[in-house]
Amino acid sequence: MNLPIQSNDIQAVIEADRAHVWHHLIQHKPFETIDPRIMVEGRGMRVWDATGREHLDGVSGGVWTVNVGYGRESIADAVRDQLVKMNYFANSAGSIPGAMFAKQLIDKMPGLSRVYYSNSGSEANEKAFKMIRQISHRHHGGRKYKILYRDRDYHGTTIGALSAGGQPQRVEQYGPLVPGFVSVPHCLEYRNQYPDAESYGLAAANAIEEVILREGPDTVGGLCLEPITAGGGVITPPPGYWERVQEICAKYNILLHIDEVVCGVGRTGAWFGYQHYGIKPDFVTMAKGVASGYAAISCTVTTEAVFEQFKDDASDPMSYFRDISTFGGCAAGPAAALENMRIVEDENLIENTQVMGERMMDNLRALQDKHAVIGDVRGKGLFVGAELVSDRKTKDPMEEKRVHAVVADCMAQGVIIGATNRSLHGYNNTLCFSPALIATAQDIDQITDSVDRALTKVFG
Ligand SMILES: Cc1ncc(COP(=O)(O)O)c(C=O)c1O
Repeated sequence: MNLPIQSNDIQAVIEADRAHVWHHLIQHKPFETIDPRIMVEGRGMRVWDATGREHLDGVSGGVWTVNVGYGRESIADAVRDQLVKMNYFANSAGSIPGAMFAKQLIDKMPGLSRVYYSNSGSEANEKAFKMIRQISHRHHGGRKYKILYRDRDYHGTTIGALSAGGQPQRVEQYGPLVPGFVSVPHCLEYRNQYPDAESYGLAAANAIEEVILREGPDTVGGLCLEPITAGGGVITPPPGYWERVQEICAKYNILLHIDEVVCGVGRTGAWFGYQHYGIKPDFVTMAKGVASGYAAISCTVTTEAVFEQFKDDASDPMSYFRDISTFGGCAAGPAAALENMRIVEDENLIENTQVMGERMMDNLRALQDKHAVIGDVRGKGLFVGAELVSDRKTKDPMEEKRVHAVVADCMAQGVIIGATNRSLHGYNNTLCFSPALIATAQDIDQITDSVDRALTKVFG
């Protein structure tokens, strides 16, 4: 179904965009000859652009965000009602939705107890980094300041978060970066760095310990990891990995920070990705799916043990977390997040994610039998990747240009999928899928059927 265009003068919109909007993550030279894409309307799993063309969205708003789908009037109503009652007050005071969402969130996160609000995934991660640094200053003489991050992981776009970025192409051209961030090896078994190890998971975790020992355990304050790496190629952890990571953190008194900006709030078929692996984190950060893009909100969630370290000396005027996020006080975020959470619960979207995720993996594995170019299929819930290779035996990665030709062909068929892009030199070769958690079997089949046709077209 193609919708009529809403504005009588969509050309004026396009020209205003072309003249004045600086879009994210995209080269602008082509817009001198082609129109920028303007998204006009969304409903459920589908979006319509300014030409009235319908697309099935297989990536939840491009960057795995719109978990409950488009056009949710109940979220818009909740936000509207909150904004006309009390839109904003700095978060040194509380708000009704801020308190109530924190309570409901903590109910889903046993072992954690405090929620710090801000606006984006990058910012939520920066807060955790600052907390770790402040703990180092107040409790370890400033020595335990280093923060470890993993190759291929991404934690955000600000200079601090970029300094914890395991994707070299994203970091390039923005140095010098912040000192005190140190990388550990990735854990992608398909690209096994320890072929002789008995257990890949243990070897990949032990590689973290090696870095800690090299740096000096008394200098390392935190370890920041995605539960399942997103933009670095949808990397699910190998068996045994997380148990060993947890042991290592406990052994060296290192705070474990899990970045759930993508995985959080149902995406992987659990409330949080870490909950699949029995991890006990010290920090969990989240953003995208928290309010599904209906309002800007992010959360840095931590334990009472961490929180206590910021109020140990009431007589010292500097003994508190000396941070503010202006719009962390905007009540639209938690109001949207409360209704978003209700929808996930009432519509059984976590269960749907498990079932539809299995279907998507099965469909892609069937395509792997048919198309030699698919080297590996991996994922959890509705968070799935298919790594393309030019040779299955050598696993040589497929050229980024040809991977993007598959994405473009799906788009031409009216299906939006994603791919890793300009992140890892030579390894931007994974197709990414993250449909909304409301996806039906027909939606999943439509996505994978379009991939089937695109692979045939691009690779024969
Ligand atoms: C795992 C992860 N962490 C953090 C971020 C940064 O979030 P934001 O773009 O909201 O700052 C992203 C963004 O894609 C992400 O994928």
